[in-house]
Amino acid sequence: MKDLIEQARKARENAHAPFSNFKVGAALLTKSGAIITGCNIENASYGLTMCAERVAIFKAISEGEKKFEHLAIVADTDNLTPPCGACRQIIWEFCGDVEIVLANLQGETETFQMSDLLPKAFDAKFLK
Ligand code: THU
Repeated sequence: MKDLIEQARKARENAHAPFSNFKVGAALLTKSGAIITGCNIENASYGLTMCAERVAIFKAISEGEKKFEHLAIVADTDNLTPPCGACRQIIWEFCGDVEIVLANLQGETETFQMSDLLPKAFDAKFLK
């Protein structure tokens, strides 16, 4: 888990966040033991901004990864930064009830289950 947080911290340094100056890093641990990272990528057309969590997940999916064990999210905040609503829905879609580890640059951490962050989630089972 320490390594996962460290990889998210490193990915955060690649964030393209000139508009908010709020840099976020994420790291996904796959069941096969691979770590896939992401950072937030902003755009002058603000709504096109992509969060670090979604970048990591979309990278992983595009590389053929399908099973995930943990997701670490790192930001420079005293109050540890949780995933936004859109990211929660995407995390649920691809990672299910995965364990989420929040961390800051001081090394503080907090762990949550996705089902606690997104109770009563809408997902594919409603579409049958
Ligand atoms: N952001 C993330 O990357 N992940 C989160 O969990 C929260 C928000 C980014 C989006 C935007 O680039 C900046 O943080 C401020 O909202």
